[in-house]
This record gives sequence, C-alpha cells and structure tokens, in this order.
Amino acid sequence: MNTRLPLVTILTLPLFANAEVTYHRDIAPIIYANCTGCHREGESGPFPLSTFEEVSRKAKTVERVIEDRYMPPWHASIEHVPFHDIRRLEKEEIERFGNWVTAGKPEGDPADAPPIPDFPEGWQLGEPDLVVTMAKAYEVPADGPDIYRNFVLPLDLPEDKWVKAVELRPSARSVLHHSLLFLDDSGTARSLDGKDGKPGFSGMGFRKSGSIGTYVPGATPRRLPGDLARPLPKGSDIVLSTHFHPSGKIEEEQTTLGIYFADSPPGRKLEELQVPPAFGRGAGIDIPAGESNYIVEDSFKIPVDYEAISVGGHAHYICETMLMTATLPDGGEKVLLEITDWDLDWQDTYYFAEPLILPAGTVIKSVITYDNSANNPDNPNTPPQRIKWGRESTDEMGSMTLIGVPVEAGDSRMLSRAAKLDQAKILAEVGKELINSRTAEKLPQIIKALDRDGDGNLHETELPPRMKSILLEKLDIDRDNSLNPSEIQTLKDWLENRKAKKEA
Ligand code: HEC
Repeated sequence: MNTRLPLVTILTLPLFANAEVTYHRDIAPIIYANCTGCHREGESGPFPLSTFEEVSRKAKTVERVIEDRYMPPWHASIEHVPFHDIRRLEKEEIERFGNWVTAGKPEGDPADAPPIPDFPEGWQLGEPDLVVTMAKAYEVPADGPDIYRNFVLPLDLPEDKWVKAVELRPSARSVLHHSLLFLDDSGTARSLDGKDGKPGFSGMGFRKSGSIGTYVPGATPRRLPGDLARPLPKGSDIVLSTHFHPSGKIEEEQTTLGIYFADSPPGRKLEELQVPPAFGRGAGIDIPAGESNYIVEDSFKIPVDYEAISVGGHAHYICETMLMTATLPDGGEKVLLEITDWDLDWQDTYYFAEPLILPAGTVIKSVITYDNSANNPDNPNTPPQRIKWGRESTDEMGSMTLIGVPVEAGDSRMLSRAAKLDQAKILAEVGKELINSRTAEKLPQIIKALDRDGDGNLHETELPPRMKSILLEKLDIDRDNSLNPSEIQTLKDWLENRKAKKEA
C-alpha cells in the first residue's frame, strides 16, 4: 500500500512543474499509494477513492484533510527513528494536489495513469491460516454507557501453535473502541458464554493464560519479524475482551479474526515493557477541570540487553501528546516515539524499520500530557469536569508500550521479573483503598487468618475470591499460583510506603 512514487516520476516532476497538472499523470499515483488501500470497497475508509470521478467529487474535502494532515492517518513524528509503513504525504505532493484543484481538476489522458496497485482482497496479510468468527452477533445499543464484553472463540486446536500476526475484522467499526485478544486454557470463559442470554459475558471472571495481541482502530496488521511469534497452546480458547462506545445508532458486532501461524517455535520470548504499567492504573491520574497541561511521567530501567521491535501508546480523549525516550548507559538519548497530536481513533503500533538494540541499563521514559480545558475540542465534557483514571472512554488512561525481546534468550526471566516488580506500582491504588479501611495495620493478622495451612504461603485457594485475580496477577512473580513470603513482603512494603507518605 505504501508504494512510493517511482524514482523516474520524482526526477521528471520539475520539468512539468509549470505544465498542466492532470489527474491521471500527477494525482492518481498519490491517491493509489496513500489512500486507496483504505478507501475502497470493504475497507475502513467511508467512501472509495481511486477513479477520477471519485476523487474529483471529493476534491475540496481531500484538499482540506491532506493539508491539515488528518489524512492519511499517521501520528508518529518521523524525524527520530525510522518506522515501517509510514503513511505521510510529502509537502510537494500536498502542493501538487492543491495545484490540480486550482487548475479546475483536469482529467488528462487515462493512458498516463499508473496501473492501479493489486490491493489484497479482504485480508491485508493474505489468506490467514485460521479464520474464526463470533458464533452470534452482539447488539450494541444506540446509547448508554460504554460496554465491556468478552466474546469466546473456541479453537479446539489439536497441537501447540505460534502466532505471527492477527488481523481482526469487526462488523461495527464505528462503535468498537478496542479489542484485547486474551487466551483462556481453563474452559471457564466457554462456560460463562451466553449465561445472561446474550452472546459473550461481562466482567473478568476468567484467568488470562496469555495474549495474542490487541486490536485498535487504525492498527496496521503486521507479521512479527524474524522467527518471533506468540504462543497459542493447544486447548486454549481466544477471548475477545471488547470495549464498545455507543454511536447513537444500534449496531451489530460479529467479529471475524484471521490468525497467521509461524512454522516453528521462536528462539526468544516477547516481553512487553509498559510505562507506566497497567495503562497508568497506579499513576494516580486525577486531572482537575480546566487544567490544560497535566503531565504523567514514568520510567523503567531495562536490566538486560533488549531488542525493541515496535512502540505504541494508549490514552483516551483529552490526551494531547506522548513522548517515549531511551537514555542509554553512555548518556546518549534516543526518541522512540513522539506523538504531538494524539487521536483516540488512530492508535497504531509503530514498527521500527530495523530492530533497535537498547543495552542493559537503558532507561525508557514516558511523558504523557493532557488538556482538560474548554479549549480542547476533544474534551468529552462541557464544561470540563475532573477526570480520573478509569475504564470508561470518558475517563483517562495513559501508558506507552515497547515490544521486543531480550537479546540473549537466557535473559527472559530476569527481564520479566523486573517488569512484574514494576507492575507492583499498581498496588499504590489497591494499597490506598486498603489504607483507607485501615487494613495496613491489620495486614499481619489478615495474612495469618488467610494462611489456613500455616505454611507462610498464601495459596490460590486461601486468597479472598474478590482480590484473588488481582493479587496473583500483580504479586505472583514466579507464577506458581501462590504468594510466598517474599512476594507477600512486596505488598507489605507497598502499604508501609504509602502510609509513610500519607503521614508525611
Ligand atoms: C488507514 C486507512 C486510511 C488511509 C490510508 C486513508 N484514509 Fe481517509 N479515512 C479513513 C477512515 C477510517 C475515515 C473515516 C473516519 C474519520 O473521518 O476519521 C477516513 C475519512 C476520510 C475523509 C473524510 C474526512 C471528513 O472530515 O469527513 C477524507 C476526505 C479522506 N479520508 C481522505 C483520504 C485521503 C485523501 C487519503 C490519502 C491521502 C486517505 N484518506 C487515506 C481511513 C483512511
């Protein structure tokens, strides 16, 4: 889709700079290379853009959206690290389009047009190895609060598989805010499906056994590079954890998912570094009404040599900018991702053109800014209201994610341990709730009471049902479904820190 102008066209452009600009010779190459991939039958663009008639009819609007760089959609600054699949017009191309409109949109000779590229029909990455569709459509009401709903796609795979890429085709793109693709190997999600008479189920009543990716509007599907792939063990079902934002019109969602497998298991394990972790759950996001420059900052020191593959961010409406930098052990600094005009609707994952090596000791830092003033046209509230962290799209979140692998396969454990410990920050929030109920002082007694077999560990069956999944997810670093004394100590430290801070 991103076929650039042939070199010969670029070289000859100045020769006819003063000559008449025609659709077929000068405009079609721009449209084919940058617009038609989405603006054609069955794709996300709301109308087709490829023929002279189609482009001519929309010429004024097209001129406006390319001038303010609303189209083609692309939000990462391109002067730092080179990315794959950059969708961005050259200044000259924007001017050329303007000249064509000013000249009265001459058509020219169809023989001058380049052949229309061979766009993949349906799947952007070609025919998937496995296609699964939700058994029944889910009806999204016209209005009301945002909806979180899980949909189960039973797989019944006879053997372990490795996933190179997924491509998700929603049927109601306008209301689908995002979909997280979790795995469940316990059959729990399957048993919850449809219990309330509608397809899927609400809440997080299953334990995620893995993830094979995320879908957000505007994401470009892409295969993981080299031999990298995500595990999809046999016996796992996929759970689409989907967030809908009603649009004013009843919509039916029946997602189809295409999965692309690797031929063999990868040599190294993917490790995501989210800064701040858990979409900013523990970052204390609390933005006063009218505040025009609220900043969330966090950093993470990578303990091993790391090979970064892609980078992206997540926030909601009032986020303005995102910046992730890497400070290398030698003091050098690299910008990994800069977004100066955050747009909730276009949360792409940006793949580095070349994998980026970050040596052990590199500190990655995220700075995310928000504008909760009346001057922000994207503010969901008029007049502005205090906005806190939360799951509704009118709440806020904020985090940036680097995806990659340790350079040495053997460093996986150390890296994932460091990332898990970092996630313990989330306990700030949990801890706050506990402190408010004066649980901190009572913690030793609580632990003693819970530890029914008195072995000093809190096993899964000993944890309070309501807190079980969050406690295990955040504290169970060695993943044995039980909290050992050192893991319990992390919780104690957290509570005491919070308490000390509060009293100071
Ligand atoms: C990645 C897919 C994608 C690409 C590439 C893309 N568009 Fe779009 N375009 C969309 C979607 C989706 C919408 C509707 C949602 C929106 O307006 O944000 C849209 C909307 C538009 C609109 C309507 C905007 C409005 O304000 O009503 C115009 C005009 C447009 N695109 C022109 C273009 C042109 C010209 C190009 C190439 C230079 C292009 N698009 C490239 C997906 C794309």
